[in-house]
Amino acid sequence: MTTTNFNESAKKIADLVAQHPEDLLLQVCQFLKQNVYHYDWVGFYILDPEKNELVLGPFAGKPTPHTHIAVGKGICGQVAKSGKPMVVQDVTQVENYISCGLEVLSEIVVPVLKDGKLVAELDIDSHSPAPFTSEDTEFLTKICDLLAFCF
Ligand code: SME
Repeated sequence: MTTTNFNESAKKIADLVAQHPEDLLLQVCQFLKQNVYHYDWVGFYILDPEKNELVLGPFAGKPTPHTHIAVGKGICGQVAKSGKPMVVQDVTQVENYISCGLEVLSEIVVPVLKDGKLVAELDIDSHSPAPFTSEDTEFLTKICDLLAFCF
């Protein structure tokens, strides 16, 4: 921008601020899927504390039939219980796992904490074998911290 148009700029910023949190979450999912080679499905699950289940929120990748997951069930449900990130480098080695397709080889789930309580999770499926390192966990934890205000 060569000449500052404050009115136009203020409107642009107002549009960004007014963006619905769901749109922001969707954009983050799309960004992660497109920019990290080993992230093949990226989505948020939101905790419904009354029903004690996770409900699928914005996601990027193949639609999944698992739109509701009970706390304790699968990798997502285990993270909802523990409140701690979980990395599964080989999904065939885990008993308590809900499959989204044979192409998925590994998975990482990171909790979104708000005031210390789990409100949602970021779930990532990978078609690569054992692709995750501690850097993934640190990176995704940072993203979940940044996005906690959306929930
Ligand atoms: N694999 C997950 C289910 C959700 S899908 O990955 C989208 C689990 O075991 O909880």
